[in-house]
Amino acid sequence: MQKKRILVALVVAVIAGAFWLGGAVDRAGAREQVVNIYTSRHYGVEPVFDRFTRETGIAIRFTTGSDAALRERLRAEGARTPADMYIAVDAGNLWLAARDGLLAAVESRVLRENIPAHLRDPGNRWFGLTQRIRTIMYHPARVTPQELSTYEALADPRWRGRLVMRPATHSYTQSLVSSLIAAHGPAKAEEVVAGWVANRPVLIDSDTRILQALAAGEGDVAITNHYYLGRILQDNPGFPIRVFWANQADRGAHVNISGAGVTAHAPNRANAVKLLEWLSGTGQEMFASTNHEFPANPRVTPHPIIAGFGRFTADDLDLGELGRLQAEAVKLLDRVGYR
Ligand SMILES: [Fe+2]
Repeated sequence: MQKKRILVALVVAVIAGAFWLGGAVDRAGAREQVVNIYTSRHYGVEPVFDRFTRETGIAIRFTTGSDAALRERLRAEGARTPADMYIAVDAGNLWLAARDGLLAAVESRVLRENIPAHLRDPGNRWFGLTQRIRTIMYHPARVTPQELSTYEALADPRWRGRLVMRPATHSYTQSLVSSLIAAHGPAKAEEVVAGWVANRPVLIDSDTRILQALAAGEGDVAITNHYYLGRILQDNPGFPIRVFWANQADRGAHVNISGAGVTAHAPNRANAVKLLEWLSGTGQEMFASTNHEFPANPRVTPHPIIAGFGRFTADDLDLGELGRLQAEAVKLLDRVGYR
């Protein structure tokens, strides 16, 4: 009996001591378990990270901003940065961060097994976490799917005055054009984009507004990311616009990603690697589904709304190419007068 009482007292003392120590360390701000994230991807993802915190006890702090502004901040802060992880949309942004030495390589068997090779950096400095397919959208009252085939075919004069597109200033347009250059070389790619411009597309700098414009009859065919339609259908299942998977008879539909890398000077590197691995596995379904994106991990099921868009072939272009060709794509767009 006496022994048991001593044991209980000891356990209580140890627990109290641990709390006191933990508190002291927290106040000092030194050993708190945390990942500081610089992110431009803010599509209601908080519940995903809350779950990670519940499962691991590691807190998440966000600093949000545009992809370019966050890279600039990382560069300016250098070795003193509080950021452990950079999350960005568009492979071009991740590629630029890696090129500028802002990201550190992460050698992880978990990440290699969860993320297909073409969706991550060969140097392991960034990893795609979700796939967004930029493809053709149409109004079924005015266009039949039999009339549609490829991005290239939208340069045909039959589409004059019927297209709605995103301006050249947006990275989504630049990456799509980079993928055309990768597929055809610069001369043929320029011919295609010049054909789009000759069709005098309506330019709208929001994929959501592009889809609404199609529904309102301001055009018949558009190119947008698939998840914007998923989002609209979630709230309005009767929304009339349909998805058409582009280039199914050749290279497949244009893929981009949102993804992440661990920063070169991460103060909490081990926690950041743990979060990255978690996002590629346990957290994948939730992270992708909050924005109706396709999981990068092929073993994870997509959200039912986008699964309903049907199976398709995706272009398996190495996504580093989107970054490498971005400057050339911007010049090409400018030369053909795409604004
Ligand atoms: Fe987007």
